Amino acid sequence: MRDREFNKLMNLYEKAANKLLEELYMLKEYLKSTYDYDVINTISSRIKTPQSILNKMNKKKYKLNYKNLIQNIDDIAGVRIACPIKSDIFTIKRAIENMEDIRIIKEKDYISQPKESGYSAYHLIVEVPIEFKDKEIYVKCEIQIRTMAMDFWATAEHKMRYKSKKKLSWFDSQKLSWYAKILNMLDTKLSTIYAKQEENIN
Ligand code: GTP
Ligand code: MG
Repeated sequence: MRDREFNKLMNLYEKAANKLLEELYMLKEYLKSTYDYDVINTISSRIKTPQSILNKMNKKKYKLNYKNLIQNIDDIAGVRIACPIKSDIFTIKRAIENMEDIRIIKEKDYISQPKESGYSAYHLIVEVPIEFKDKEIYVKCEIQIRTMAMDFWATAEHKMRYKSKKKLSWFDSQKLSWYAKILNMLDTKLSTIYAKQEENIN
């Protein structure tokens, strides 16, 4: 893949991520004024590095070409949203579903079905319209919605296990997955207290 073409393609993903960020920051304000608290706590974004794209293409055994890259790698542009309470995840997901120009093409529910590793989050693969040569084209982005507890675990586990070159012992690896379950249990308990309080008020 030639460098200049590759950079041009990455620019499109960057444009899409920025457009999505802009819309999500507006959503953050809207949800805050509607619910009277920060339903969305933090929003961050990243573009996958060329090395990481290459690794993923190799890992998934795709031949290296643009068609395969565009069609099969969903997370070149990624946006992450963290919220305080578990039920917020679905409030945010529904709000994104209602966004007019964002098309949802895939959903992965690792909330009701956490991954073997213990990883929990709600993922949406969306398409975002951007302008390109006087036309509108749709570019794929991955949105990860998770509570701050899920985010805390995933960020630490990402460093120690998921993307680490140093292997963890079997026992430590089991511990990481077990800690995800404990955090998940606490997350659910907090959500339950919040729901009970809301019921009393309304
Ligand atoms: P990747 O090749 O890692 O992107 O996975 P995928 O494209 O096959 O999809 P999947 O839904 O499994 O993961 C998408 C993204 O979710 C990853 O890039 C990570 O950001 C996050 N993720 C998935 N599983 C884990 C996990 O076990 N631990 C952590 N920390 N993050 C995870
Ligand atoms: Mg990924």
